[in-house]
Order: sequence, then C-alpha cells, then structure tokens
Amino acid sequence: MKIGVLGTGVAGQAIAGKLQSLGHDVMMGGRSADNEKAVAFKVRAGGRAGAFSDAAAHGDVLFNCTRGDATIDVLHQAGEANLGEKVLIDVANPLDFSKGFPPTLTIANTDSLAEMIQREFPAVKVVKTLNTVTASIMIEPKKLPGAHSVFLSGNDAAAKGRARDFLVAFGWTSIIDLGDITSARGPEQLLPLWIQLYRALGTAEFNVAVIKV
Ligand SMILES: NC(=O)c1ccc[n+]([C@@H]2O[C@H](COP(=O)([O-])OP(=O)(O)OC[C@H]3O[C@@H](n4cnc5c(N)ncnc54)[C@H](OP(=O)(O)O)[C@@H]3O)[C@@H](O)[C@H]2O)c1
Repeated sequence: MKIGVLGTGVAGQAIAGKLQSLGHDVMMGGRSADNEKAVAFKVRAGGRAGAFSDAAAHGDVLFNCTRGDATIDVLHQAGEANLGEKVLIDVANPLDFSKGFPPTLTIANTDSLAEMIQREFPAVKVVKTLNTVTASIMIEPKKLPGAHSVFLSGNDAAAKGRARDFLVAFGWTSIIDLGDITSARGPEQLLPLWIQLYRALGTAEFNVAVIKV
C-alpha cells in the first residue's frame, strides 16, 4: 500500500521504517523536500522522501507524526486536495514545551488535537491511536511482556478498521476502540500521567495494561 508519513522525527522514522519493512511503499514528508532526516530514511530504509505535500499526495493512507502545535499548519502545507477523504492516523500529542519540562497540554477537557484536525479537515477520516506509547513500543509492542493496551478513536468505522489492521501488523493484541473522535480526549490527556511514569520509571519503554473481568 502507498503510505504517506508526515513527520521526520523519532515517531515518523519508527513508523515509516516499520511500514517499509512490512512491504509498504512509504514516503516520508517534512517541511522541505531535501529535509536531511527524510533523505536519511530514503537511504537507510529504501523509502521515498519529499515535502509534506508530496507525502500526502503519495499516500492512500497517511500518518500524522508532527509536533502537535504545528500539526494544523503542517496539514495545510500538505494541502487539502492531497488529504482528500483519506484515512489520517494521528499519533501526535498537543504538548507545550515552552516552559520546559514537564510539558503541559495545549488542548484539554472539552477538546483534543484529533478533534481540531477533524473540524479543520471534515472530509479526512481521522483516527487517533498510538500517541500513548513511545515510538519504539508503537512499532514493536512485544518488546514489553504480556498484553498491554492501545486505543482507537475516530468517527469512521472503516477507517478505524484500517488503523486496527496496522496495529495488528505491528504486533498489538489489546486494542480498545474508545468511540468517536471526541474520545481522543482520553488518550491525549493520558500524557501528563505518561510523563510522570517516565520520570518515575527512568525509561520511556513502558505501557499501561487495561484489565477487566
Ligand atoms: N517520539 C515519540 O516517541 C512519540 C511518542 C508518542 C507520540 N509522539 C508524538 O508524535 C509527534 C512527533 O513526535 P517526534 O518526537 O517524532 O518529533 P517532533 O519533534 O515532535 O516533530 C517533528 C516533526 O514536526 C515537524 N514540524 C512542523 N512544523 C514544525 C515547527 N514549526 N517546528 C518544529 N517542527 C515542526 C517537523 O518538520 P521537519 O521534518 O520539517 O523538521 C518534523 O517532521 C509529536 O506530536 C509527539 O507528541 C511522539
């Protein structure tokens, strides 16, 4: 499948590399077509590199792996026509690092980044997932023993099905569909807890497991 990964950071690199290794035709996009991290992906993994608009045009499915405070701007750079009615799997977090560590949420309680994206681009099928784990765990959940959980939020059932297929291919077994796009508030607001756990445990490679009777 042709996939566009918007974002050249740790999350974008991990997801693009994994998808390419699974046999997909992946283009990574950044602010400029000659972004050195995107070009490095091309050399290292045999994928493609371009600007955000190139990656958005290339992909039948898109991943948003950009800084939460830049995401809306990035998606405008990607171009509404290129986004079309595509599935956009959003792993971004609306974090504000301007006052140092720990960051705060720029959006919370009555809204979420995923909802902002959905409002700004109503035709796009936004699915929130994977934002609650570090990049290495996103693509290799079996690094952690036992079943641990990842969440899905989105308005379109078929789009959530596409996202679920990627999660299963990555190795996820406990995938919890939280509901429509407003349910993305929960996983986005898990980030303050995630940050405290990161400090307490001294590693980013952990996750929460949801257990029920
Ligand atoms: N890293 C993780 O383990 C992890 C885990 C869970 C969720 N996430 C979320 O995934 C997203 C990506 O995280 P990341 O750590 O991979 O990288 P990041 O540093 O948060 O984001 C890098 C991407 O944002 C783009 N960007 C667009 N406008 C920007 C601007 N004005 N200033 C700086 N960057 C801008 C960069 O573009 P260029 O390519 O042009 O530089 C780059 O592609 C974030 O929302 C993060 O919260 C990350």
